[in-house]
Amino acid sequence: MSTRKILVTSALPYANGPIHLGHLVEYIQTDIWTRFQKMQGHEAWYVCADDAHGTPIMLRADKEGITPEALIAKTSEEHQADFADFNIAFDHYHSTHSDENRELASDIYLKLESAGHIAKRTISQAFDPEKQMFLPDRFIKGECPKCGAADQYGDNCEVCGATYSPTELKNAVSAVSGATPIEKDSEHYFFKLGDFEAFLKEWTTSGHVHESLENKLGEWFEAGLQDWDISRDAPYFGFQIPGSDNKYFYVWLDAPVGYMASFKALCEKQGLNFDEYWAEDSNAEVVHFIGKDIVYFHALFWPAMLKGAGFRTPSKILAHGFLTLNGEKMSKSRGTFIKARTWLDHMPAEPLRYYFAAKLNNGVSDLDLNLEDFVARVNSDLVGKYVNIASRCANFITKKFDGQLTEITEAHPLVAECAAAAPQIAELYEQRDFARAVREIMALADKANQYIAEQEPWALAKDESKLPQVHDICSTGVRLFHILSIYLKPLLPALGEKAEAFLNLPPQQWSDVGQNLSGHAINKFKPLMTRVQSEDIEKVLEVAAEEAKAFAEPEKKVEATNPIADEIEFDDFAKIDLRLATIVEADHVEGADKLLRLQLDLGDETGGVKKQVFAGIKSAYDPEDLIGKTTVVVANLKPRKMRFGMSEGMVLAAGPGGEDLWILEPSNNSRGKFSQAGNRVK
Ligand code: 2FM
Ligand code: ZN
Repeated sequence: MSTRKILVTSALPYANGPIHLGHLVEYIQTDIWTRFQKMQGHEAWYVCADDAHGTPIMLRADKEGITPEALIAKTSEEHQADFADFNIAFDHYHSTHSDENRELASDIYLKLESAGHIAKRTISQAFDPEKQMFLPDRFIKGECPKCGAADQYGDNCEVCGATYSPTELKNAVSAVSGATPIEKDSEHYFFKLGDFEAFLKEWTTSGHVHESLENKLGEWFEAGLQDWDISRDAPYFGFQIPGSDNKYFYVWLDAPVGYMASFKALCEKQGLNFDEYWAEDSNAEVVHFIGKDIVYFHALFWPAMLKGAGFRTPSKILAHGFLTLNGEKMSKSRGTFIKARTWLDHMPAEPLRYYFAAKLNNGVSDLDLNLEDFVARVNSDLVGKYVNIASRCANFITKKFDGQLTEITEAHPLVAECAAAAPQIAELYEQRDFARAVREIMALADKANQYIAEQEPWALAKDESKLPQVHDICSTGVRLFHILSIYLKPLLPALGEKAEAFLNLPPQQWSDVGQNLSGHAINKFKPLMTRVQSEDIEKVLEVAAEEAKAFAEPEKKVEATNPIADEIEFDDFAKIDLRLATIVEADHVEGADKLLRLQLDLGDETGGVKKQVFAGIKSAYDPEDLIGKTTVVVANLKPRKMRFGMSEGMVLAAGPGGEDLWILEPSNNSRGKFSQAGNRVK
């Protein structure tokens, strides 16, 4: 087998937020794959960096009263500590705010410019006159131009699903200062992606991106490749564009260049040859692991940039799905947003690595962390099956045979079967089908346990004359444990090290699967891992819920952004048919940040009318707390088709917003049970 040269990357995390469990799916996936390649004896390098530029980072630093440089330095330290404690073994971790990145990004840009791939034209954009800065869409909020819903950000309405330009928002304000944005012209630089259409069509269909993404890419080609706006005006935290007057590279221009920059820094550290990996004719592999949300950047912009600047293009863009927690999107407001550090404060890292691996395949479907299943699975597989093999055999070897293994028959059907699985398991790792690899490995662990259970060395050991048999059985068990430890090592590097210490072996490579341990002396067995406890998971969830409260603290209020609306006539008001209604169902709405879906029962008096209503009250209520409550509904509002379904009324709620929002809850504590009759509110 010839040695491959492989440069592996994970997407660069933004430098203004903590690493959370959702991020970890990708870093764990990449780390497993890279560790596997290294165990194969390949020259594999895993690099990453913090993605340190852009408006959100600049504004966040501003808010904290520190410089962006101080913010990114602090975040980088936290990120690296989190990764290290999850045993993510980067060969180098860099920052996009680095000299290497400035040089490489400028070099790529200048090459694209001189080849005619950069266009310049003036565009008009929202500008905050108070902050004296252009506003990215997500920093403008206002009322939806179609339905009037308040507090809508950017270019689409969460309530009615309308899409529009942020400049069409009514009563728009800057989310940064509260000022009313104005329109302002400025010259922008564009990367002419369309110049690369033919190349990209060919490139994206020749094995560089997973076939599950081909349809999406096809749609994008069909829609036409638009010029990409790569410049931002000052003030901006990033690199100034060479030759420009105060224009900066948009964060997404220099972010992927950060992969190269991090590798360049590694080359300095290790004496590697950068060009061997990045020159146009390189025969090394460059493999990017990413989430399915950033495919456009990696499968279109990035290869086009590299191609246009005369570098090699990536070998593979490998996308994965998102993490759900107990079947739902992790959510700050619901207190189910779990930071890496919160997990580590109460739980070891490796069970989570194992669980993610057991659910990861090479597709882009989402992966669910079901906490109950997690506890059951890792305890059963790792403690009950894998570690159990060693713990059942080790003591006999230590106590009765001075730690020495007997002659081990490699021809023993189980040893032979277990070792013969190596190529198949290796192929599953190579293809990133970790779920199947885990299934195969655990099936072998089952067989090993079954063998030991059938042989009953503990029963034989009572009879002195049977000791040679005990020695054989337990030595075979240890050898099986050895093979399984190698198979599991990419997933469980720390457990793998403990296993090596017990087996008295140096760091094992994949090829060591075939190593005969006859006569080898092992060390005394110490428990390799303890069972995961549900109570520890409870603690993680409690802390996450506490943290959620802090997230929900209302932002500094912007004064008078919501003045009282124009007067209406009494006749207009009289048209509104207000009814009492019981909330019989309440659920989260997939993909909506503000809405809950309510199913209302308007009572017998209406002939048992039921209505589905989408209400923008998610920031203030957990759905389960709403079920059974009585509220007031505008019953004769014309049904509206929303992105998520029909909304057939409007629940009355008021308040400044966020957690401070209340639905009307008629209660008649002092008047006895209210009657459904005469339901209409007067
Ligand atoms: O989506 C993100 O979190 C980006 N920070 C990923 C950047 S990946 C690469 F292009 F740098
Ligand atoms: Zn709307």
